[in-house]
Amino acid sequence: MKRFPDNFFWGGATSSSQIEGGFQEGGRGITIQDVVTAGNNRQPRYFTYIDKDGKPGKFAQFGGALPEGARYAVLENEYYPTHKAVDFYHYYKEDIKMLAEMGFKMFRMSVCWSRIFPKGIEEEPNREGLEFYRNIFLELRKYGIEPLVTIWHGENPIYLENEIGGWNSRKMIAYFDKYVRTVISEYKGLVKYWLTFNELNNTIMFLDLMEDELAKKEAQSTYQQIHHKFVASAHAVKIAHTIDPDCKVGCMIAYAVNYPSTCAPEDVIAAMEKNQRISFYCGDVQVRGYYPAYAQKILEKADVKLQITHQDFIDLKEGIVDFYSFSYYSSACVTAGKTQETVKGNFTIGEKNPYLKYSEWGWGMDPDGLRYALNQIYDRYQIPVIVVENGLGAVDTIEADGKIHDSYRMEYIRNHIKAMKAAIEDGVELFGYTTWGCIDEISASTGEMMKRYGFIYVDRDNEGNGTMKRSRKDSFYWYKKVIESNGEDLV
Ligand code: BG6
Repeated sequence: MKRFPDNFFWGGATSSSQIEGGFQEGGRGITIQDVVTAGNNRQPRYFTYIDKDGKPGKFAQFGGALPEGARYAVLENEYYPTHKAVDFYHYYKEDIKMLAEMGFKMFRMSVCWSRIFPKGIEEEPNREGLEFYRNIFLELRKYGIEPLVTIWHGENPIYLENEIGGWNSRKMIAYFDKYVRTVISEYKGLVKYWLTFNELNNTIMFLDLMEDELAKKEAQSTYQQIHHKFVASAHAVKIAHTIDPDCKVGCMIAYAVNYPSTCAPEDVIAAMEKNQRISFYCGDVQVRGYYPAYAQKILEKADVKLQITHQDFIDLKEGIVDFYSFSYYSSACVTAGKTQETVKGNFTIGEKNPYLKYSEWGWGMDPDGLRYALNQIYDRYQIPVIVVENGLGAVDTIEADGKIHDSYRMEYIRNHIKAMKAAIEDGVELFGYTTWGCIDEISASTGEMMKRYGFIYVDRDNEGNGTMKRSRKDSFYWYKKVIESNGEDLV
């Protein structure tokens, strides 16, 4: 029986917009995440803007687009959950101390582009922003915790969104290159593991969440934006390897396991095609350095014509990643016929699986799917793999004894750890596991606070009220034991 490797990276994961807050502190510029309101399972989140006549407006995420001539803007009388988030900006020392108490070996976090280049176009970086992250990395190193840093977790400077249309424009690549060069040089020796783009494939999933008409309209820009990010990611790998030959750079894919609903061959083919489009398309380019053969069929079907330069092809080849990272939460089924009951989970949509249990937010819980995913990924690429997001978003209740008995969370993570162990026995080269939201943070899909993932509870509610006080859930002590025993003691 194989065990987890001795140097296995046990830890947790976060993103800057979901934990930091301090949105106008330290010289930080505004980002696209700062103009998204809060929603819930029934109500979408909204992007807010000022239209060409100066009138405020908003459109639903996956339900619309920025009107012609409008500019994203923070509006008065709207509530934006990320502005304060859980105030990691001020609490990071206390939080890191608690992560160290759990015995963390790795902490995944992201750098906010606008803390470094507030508009994205400045000649010189914002020193205060650079120092903020330097202090975090030093604090982590003080406890022997390895930082795993996502360079881009969905946060474009709002200026670049409004002035050049974000990733629709090739110009983004040059601005991003500069940002990457700055952070890699600045943190050389402090950060060894980098991820380029968080869930680079998730905008393909977004198309499935839209009405057909809108999805058709958005397909061209979705795939072109992804192409620009492929090139930017390849540049980032090259820049990182040149500046710091010791560092390792990975891709980050939202891995959706899609099973055929039945063993009917047409369902199997439908699942194969969905996996190609959603789970393989981006990883194939980032790991292999070229578009897979099936990409042409996907693009033709979506009526997309990509603008790709000769130099892009060279860059993609030269910028392949060192390791593969992914998020995994749930699985779904695919039918070639009419979907009977629809389920959603981490931006994917599919048919309900009668063999699974579903979370309070309707995400299918499927630990075997993680073993399946790990085998699929490793067979396909044969490079080291790390699970950088996994966990259960649930409502936590403070009981009469003042504690949070989150046995449901422990059970979810326990089963996924067993699945990872099985995958290691299958031969997969898995080198780490960072659970999502080790500290409670703002939910990305709904903007809620009550959808909690953490081992550390944060006193804050959906409307932004609360003391921000941190406390230890039962899972805190449990995960500590898991880490101490290197994944052997799961009881
Ligand atoms: C992933 C994202 O999609 O899933 C995270 O990378 C996100 O940012 C996580 O928070 C969990 O999703 P949610 O919607 O429950 O916060």
